[in-house]
Amino acid sequence: MAFAIIIALLVIGSVIFHAWSPWWLTPIASNWGSIDTTIDITVWVTGFAFVVINLFLAYTVYKYRYSKKRRAEYEPENKKLEIWLTGITSVGVAALLAPGLFVWADFVNPPEEAHVVEVTGQQWQWAYRYPGADGKLGAADPGLITEANPFGMKEDDPAGRDDILVESAIMHLPVDKPVKVVLRSKDVLHDFAVAEFRVKMDMVPGAVSYLWLTPTKTGTYDILCEELCGVGHFVMRGRVKVQEQADFDQWLASQNTYEDALALARVDRANGQATYAMCAGCHGVQGEGNPALNAPQIAGLQDWYVTAQLEHFKTGIRGGNPADTYGAQMIGLAAALPDSQTIRNLSAYINSLPATQTKQTLSGNLKNGKELYDHNCSVCHGDNGRGVWSVHAPKLAGMDDWYLARQLRHFRDKVRGAHPEDDLGHQMQLMVSVLGDDQAINDVAVYISGLGYSDPSYVAASKAN
Ligand code: CUA
Repeated sequence: MAFAIIIALLVIGSVIFHAWSPWWLTPIASNWGSIDTTIDITVWVTGFAFVVINLFLAYTVYKYRYSKKRRAEYEPENKKLEIWLTGITSVGVAALLAPGLFVWADFVNPPEEAHVVEVTGQQWQWAYRYPGADGKLGAADPGLITEANPFGMKEDDPAGRDDILVESAIMHLPVDKPVKVVLRSKDVLHDFAVAEFRVKMDMVPGAVSYLWLTPTKTGTYDILCEELCGVGHFVMRGRVKVQEQADFDQWLASQNTYEDALALARVDRANGQATYAMCAGCHGVQGEGNPALNAPQIAGLQDWYVTAQLEHFKTGIRGGNPADTYGAQMIGLAAALPDSQTIRNLSAYINSLPATQTKQTLSGNLKNGKELYDHNCSVCHGDNGRGVWSVHAPKLAGMDDWYLARQLRHFRDKVRGAHPEDDLGHQMQLMVSVLGDDQAINDVAVYISGLGYSDPSYVAASKAN
């Protein structure tokens, strides 16, 4: 009796919970209302079966409970009942599957007029490519990927010259225009998914997959990777910004094409050295840093990292938080750099300065620091903290421990990386959230700071840099 009541209560509770659940679909922002319809059908069919079967179970548990006056009867065959049950189940399964087939047929047939955007996934970042005026994406090959050619563009394909290359986590789409999203992966399986669009599709290395949709609402939506792709899977997040056509066109026109990348002037270190005079006052003549002025060592940092940070200071993406006192100073200084060529020259000069081992200023547990580094940081920043350009992870080895610890705390406290355009900073916020308290941060900072300098191959590589 009690058992029958519990089953009935479970059914009633489930139905009430479903009706009141806060976990339901996000408001839709694309043409794929038909996917919601199939989900609704699935919920109705399975919900109906769940309620009927469990109430029937409760009923039989109650009705045929043990009684001395009754004996069980064995009835292995009941043709009539089996025909009924098979028939009803078949109708139910057909109702579950058939609508999906119609939606799928639509899903794999993008309309002729759809414009194309390519999304590339890699551990653990997104990048986007838009065809230029010719409407065609140029050929690309992962084998051609280098620091100067992160998209692996084939230089001799004329269709690729006007391709717009976007190395950012933020994708842009015009509202109400059908788009075919072409998907590639550089390394392992990923999956491109936007809940508001009701679309997702695997990205398979060596293959090109696709999906299509028409965004119907302006706004910004999260892009999630929905395929477990390694330890950084949870930080592989992007955003898609759906805009009015005019805003989209304006954004697109402001982006660099492959042609622009090819035409970049060679860096001029002598010019960079002249500009460096304004940095030397705090960071030292050799970029060795000055703890008394809160200026970290910058010598030997990768040029692409220095360039990105200076651009971020210049545009206020970094250092804009009132709690970031020294970042605010950098905003003022970076504003004095007139253009991106000056910044590139300066970065190349800073990169050419020889890095030295900084002094340990914090106390930390090296064993714990190593453990934290190996499990979290090393996947992007490399085994010896050398940095890995393909994931935009700068060199950390030998940096000042006090500076590293301060930046980690800034990421943790959302002082750094909170700007909506700072997707890598946001990624750092997520990673740092697993480190723990101030002492754990000191442990890892002291460990990183001392990394690598006893390793001869590291010293050789730093010199060659
Ligand atoms: Cu990429 Cu998970």
